Amino acid sequence: MRRHKAARPLLVVLALLAVGGIYAAVAPSSVADDTTQAEQVAAGKALFAVSCASCHGLNGEGTPSQGIPALTNVGAAAVDFQVRTGRMPMGNPYAQAPRKENVFTEEETAALAAYVASLGDGPAIPDQAQYDPSGLSAEQLATGGDLFRTNCSACHNFQGSGGALSNGKVAPPLTGATPIEIYEAMRTGPGEMPVFGAGAIPDEDVRAMIGYLDALHAQPSGGLTLGALGPVSEGFWAWVAGIGSLVLFAIWITTKAARK
Ligand code: HEC
Ligand code: HEC
Repeated sequence: MRRHKAARPLLVVLALLAVGGIYAAVAPSSVADDTTQAEQVAAGKALFAVSCASCHGLNGEGTPSQGIPALTNVGAAAVDFQVRTGRMPMGNPYAQAPRKENVFTEEETAALAAYVASLGDGPAIPDQAQYDPSGLSAEQLATGGDLFRTNCSACHNFQGSGGALSNGKVAPPLTGATPIEIYEAMRTGPGEMPVFGAGAIPDEDVRAMIGYLDALHAQPSGGLTLGALGPVSEGFWAWVAGIGSLVLFAIWITTKAARK
């Protein structure tokens, strides 16, 4: 009788685990990835023809002799940075494309980036784990500060408050820059800024620098993040919590039934 009482809830747990396993094997399918990516590139190409081609050319060839860069090897990250900070599409021939309101939706930005990425090489848009500064130790933040002072303060000032460069150009203040923008600026080198590649400053150090700047400017970071956990682990925890409560409920029901 006693063994029986324990065996029934155990069976239920095993059955639920089996269902979970089947679900996990079947649900996250990436079969549709290829077609959606092709559609995204096509949508990006159409947007590009309307909003960007007048300067950069229909195939992103640019007019380098007139100071309009080719986009054939700038990558998705450069487009994401330029569009998300509102620099592109450029309105007038300024000395430097100013930061302004972004005129595209997130979906349109991603499509433009996918199209330009399809033209050649270049850095990809980073994953959140590459730029999210949460969970850094005090030591890492100190390293970030050192790296910032060594590599960036000559143009952006020690406080990240910006400064004038020669020939009428400006290194903007970094107070309004979000983590992804800082990451992308380093990897793509907009305007007069040099590129800081992964060989010179690896991702872990970029995160440390972003954490340092965040602390320096004490900026609230946008959106809710579960620590540095991405959507995959969030889904995993939702799964564990959901199934966990079902299991407890099932045990409760079966033990009640067994007692009768
Ligand atoms: C009025 C002309 C003009 C238009 C329209 C324009 N751009 Fe640009 N774009 C420029 C110029 C000039 C630069 C160089 C600016 C600088 O270095 O500050 C540039 C730079 C860029 C860069 C950086 C390239 C690099 O080497 O890192 C990207 C990416 C870019 N543009 C994408 C776009 C996209 C996407 C659009 C359309 C949404 C667009 N541009 C529309 C003139 C234009
Ligand atoms: C040689 C000078 C120079 C150095 C060194 C430099 N930058 Fe920049 N940075 C610039 C200029 C100029 C721009 C603006 C480019 C444009 O608008 O086209 C810029 C733009 C940025 C932006 C975009 C800010 C915004 O509001 O959109 C970020 C973020 C940034 N830099 C971070 C850094 C970091 C981090 C470092 C050190 C790893 C660094 N920069 C080193 C000159 C520099």
